[in-house]
Order: sequence, then structure tokens, then C-alpha cells
Amino acid sequence: MKRKEDIDLIFQPNMVRIERILPQMTDHRLFQLKFVDEDVARSFSHAPGQFVEVTVLGVGEAPISISSPPTRPGIIEICIRKAGSVTSALFELQKGDLIALRGPFGRGFPMDLLKGQDLLLVAGGLGMAPLRSLLQAILDDRASFGDLVLMYGARNPDDILFKYELLGLMNRTDIKYLLSVDVDEEGIWRQYIGVVTGLFERVELNPETTFCGLCGPPIMYRFVVQELLKRNIPTERIFVSLERMMQCGVGKCGHCAIGEYYCCTDGPVFKYSEINHIKEAI
Ligand SMILES: Cc1cc2nc3c(=O)[nH]c(=O)nc-3n(C[C@H](O)[C@H](O)[C@H](O)COP(=O)(O)OP(=O)(O)OC[C@H]3O[C@@H](n4cnc5c(N)ncnc54)[C@H](O)[C@@H]3O)c2cc1C
Ligand code: FES
Repeated sequence: MKRKEDIDLIFQPNMVRIERILPQMTDHRLFQLKFVDEDVARSFSHAPGQFVEVTVLGVGEAPISISSPPTRPGIIEICIRKAGSVTSALFELQKGDLIALRGPFGRGFPMDLLKGQDLLLVAGGLGMAPLRSLLQAILDDRASFGDLVLMYGARNPDDILFKYELLGLMNRTDIKYLLSVDVDEEGIWRQYIGVVTGLFERVELNPETTFCGLCGPPIMYRFVVQELLKRNIPTERIFVSLERMMQCGVGKCGHCAIGEYYCCTDGPVFKYSEINHIKEAI
């Protein structure tokens, strides 16, 4: 049984200062945050795929993935899409303002298991925000992993998150970065046009050595998983990050139930083999 002090701690927010706000595409911003308390800053650590509960004082709280990797401590980055009350209030804040964080919470990607393996990362839309944490953690310790492929699908060329940062990957020889857009109304796109699954024709995957990490909308999971299964990737080598409405973020309120799991504590990252029997999971 958890001690009362442990339970109190999971509901205990810590203040962070906004160090920088980096605009992304329309209605998306990257916030760089620093803990006010240096002891908290030193002891904070997370796994890629975990999330924090972000509080804007006087407005409310929302679960948000950590976009920065554990390999770059000191600053925590979160990428926000303006959706409702909390995220809109974040857009009103400036450099130097204070917000509060609880966490990190949930189960992230199993970094120890991924070491030494070939990796395929597939992101769709805002899914690039949590997947960036995993991508940067791998790039920061590149020698510990095998072949690396990143597939990223955006709606159109203006909707690519971390556009210029990711462009830098095109010149690297230790990662294959494949980018697709669903539509290109202006006729400016020189890479793949179509849904992200169309990129599978451009890669060879070894089912015995490849692990896959997927972050995106449920419809993307359905089609990407089909492609992976066609290539004999075992279901326990496919990791998906699920998103559910959350309140407490710590397994107490039941809001985020998926079958026998709570997304906030058993996920948000699940092996596909753990959830493929649950119809409403994706
Ligand atoms: C584990 C996890 C990680 C997340 N990471 C990010 C992130 O990195 N960046 C980001 O911008 N957002 C992220 N979200 C989504 C974010 O938490 C919701 O958009 C949240 O509702 C925003 O709070 P709000 O007060 O601004 O909006 P609200 O006023 O709560 O709601 C705005 C609208 O979004 C709907 N909504 C609320 N939660 C969800 C949800 N989980 N899925 C679909 N629709 C929802 C509401 O019904 C409402 O229509 C994440 C959610 C989860 C569960
Ligand atoms: S959000 Fe409360 S149990 Fe998951």
C-alpha cells in the first residue's frame, strides 16, 4: 500500500518558469521551462513518452507530453496546441511567467529494451511532440542503437512540427528521415505526397531486430500497424502511445480507462500486444 506522503507527493505541483517560447506552426508553441527550486530541477528525470500535468494558475490543469529528452536535463520542453481553457491560457503567458507541473507520470518507452535494436519511429501530426523526446534521446546516444528510421506524416507542408530542426536530419547518414504530407495545394512539396503508410515502400525492416514506436492519431495506428504486421514485426515489438481524456493523471479517478488499463499509469505507451484485444483502444 502507498504511504500517505507518497500519495500527497503525486498531487504536489512544482513551480517552473517559462524560459523561452518558440512559435511553431499555427496554434502550436514550444515552451522551454525551468524548475524554480534547484533541488527539484536536479532530481527530475523522465523517460521519453511520459507526460506531466501542467497547471496555469487560476485556470486549471492539462496532461501534456514532455517533448525534450532525458539526456538534456535542466530544461523541460512541452509543445502545446491551443485547444481549450488551459492551453489557450498558456498562449497568453510570456517569458518569465510561472506555471506549475506535476509528474512525470505514466509509462514511457522502454529505453533499455530498445538499446542495440534497429528502430522505426512513426509520427503523425502532434504525435511528433512526444516522439521528439525519444528521437533526441536516441540521437544523443546514437552508438547504443542500431539502424534508425523516422517517418513523419503531416497534413500539409505548413503543418510540420519542428520543421527546421528536423530538416537537419536530412543531411545525417545515421538516420533515414522520411517525410510525407497528405496534400500539397500550393504544389511546392518535393517529397512524398500521401498518407504516411506510403513511405513503407522506401524501407526494409528486419522483423527480428526492429522495434517500432508510434505516436499519432488512432487512424494512423490502424494503418501503420497493418503495414508492420504485413512485414512480420511481432506485436510485442510495436509500441503505441495512446491519448485519453484524463483528470488526476495518477490512477485515482478512472477517467482514462482503456479495457483493464488506466492510460495514465499503465500507459500512455503500450506494447501493441497488450492492447490489441481491446476494441476501443485505437
Ligand atoms: C498523455 C497525454 C499527453 C498529451 N500531450 C499533449 C501535448 O504534448 N501537447 C498538447 O497540446 N496536448 C496534449 N494532450 C492533449 C491535451 O491534454 C488536451 O488537449 C487538453 O484537453 C488541453 O486542455 P485545455 O484545458 O486546453 O482544453 P479543454 O478545455 O480540456 O478541452 C478542449 C477540447 O479538447 C477535448 N479533449 C480534451 N482532452 C482530450 C484528449 N485527450 N483527446 C482528445 N480530445 C480531448 C475536449 O473534449 C474539448 O473539446 C495530451 C493528452 C494526454 C492524455
Ligand atoms: S486520469 Fe485519473 S485514473 Fe487516469
